[in-house]
Amino acid sequence: MKKEELKMTAKIINGTEMAGAISEELKEEVKSLKERHGIIPGLVTILVGDDPASVSYVKGKQTNAKDLGFYSVQDNQPADISEEQLVSLINKYNRDPLIHGILVQLPLPEQINENRVIYAIAPDKDVDALHPVNAGRLMIGEAYYYPCTPYGIHQMLIRSGVNLDGAEVVVLGRSNLVGKPISMMLIQKQSKANATVTMCHTGTKNLAEHTRRADILIVAAGRPKTVTADMVKEGSVIIDVGVNRIGMTPQGKAILCGDVDFETVKEKAGLITPVPGGVGPMTRMMLMLNVIKAAKVNAGKNSR
Ligand code: GUN
Repeated sequence: MKKEELKMTAKIINGTEMAGAISEELKEEVKSLKERHGIIPGLVTILVGDDPASVSYVKGKQTNAKDLGFYSVQDNQPADISEEQLVSLINKYNRDPLIHGILVQLPLPEQINENRVIYAIAPDKDVDALHPVNAGRLMIGEAYYYPCTPYGIHQMLIRSGVNLDGAEVVVLGRSNLVGKPISMMLIQKQSKANATVTMCHTGTKNLAEHTRRADILIVAAGRPKTVTADMVKEGSVIIDVGVNRIGMTPQGKAILCGDVDFETVKEKAGLITPVPGGVGPMTRMMLMLNVIKAAKVNAGKNSR
């Protein structure tokens, strides 16, 4: 047998395929909500400015919403909108009975205080789960909505048969969108959680000492190829949350890469997510799931 044939290569978790399967499950749920309760899940995505990455993310979310038969509104606002104007817009959607979920695409321009905008969203319509009420509920183990990216990561791990109970998890990055909430989700004393979580960030000394201990390494560092093969344990599970635009094709399409050096790390890991086609499609599908949950709250079918 040739030497290369003996080498282990990680199994790739296909986020596009997994999200497609969940979409089929959700279509049934949307149909039944419509037939039994006369409710069509409604989502508004608010985009401020025209940052190409944000434009593309929002487009993906709208495509998913339409595919599932949602009532979906794309609200584009100029980059120089004031905080007050944005907050009044949110209040309008808070009162709109056809809208169950409000998503304000982040980041926002400098003149706007992101937290003030997030606080303006009614917690029941906060399908991003970023409002302090939802973040607090997550912390105390009483979450109704989970933030979409951590929710997608959790589903990927569960659906790939990864055992979380007692696992050594290392999270790289401490953002409110990913690092903090995924850590909170995985430490809960609940089934499909109960892991030992270490959070690493720019203040961490000897990063590789931590990452090499990880059975599951979740990377949301925001920097291309932050994690290299020498930093990971043989056979570990690697979840790459990074989306870095490193160039353009001659056709004008963005060339993306993750925060993990995929080509070398896949030779050592047991399971790995690619970029693109890994966490991204799952994030969008979890948003859809949250909008359906929000529609159910509205219908009085679920309580929170
Ligand atoms: N920007 C990047 N990821 C996200 C997300 O999950 N939600 C929102 N609102 N903005 C983002």
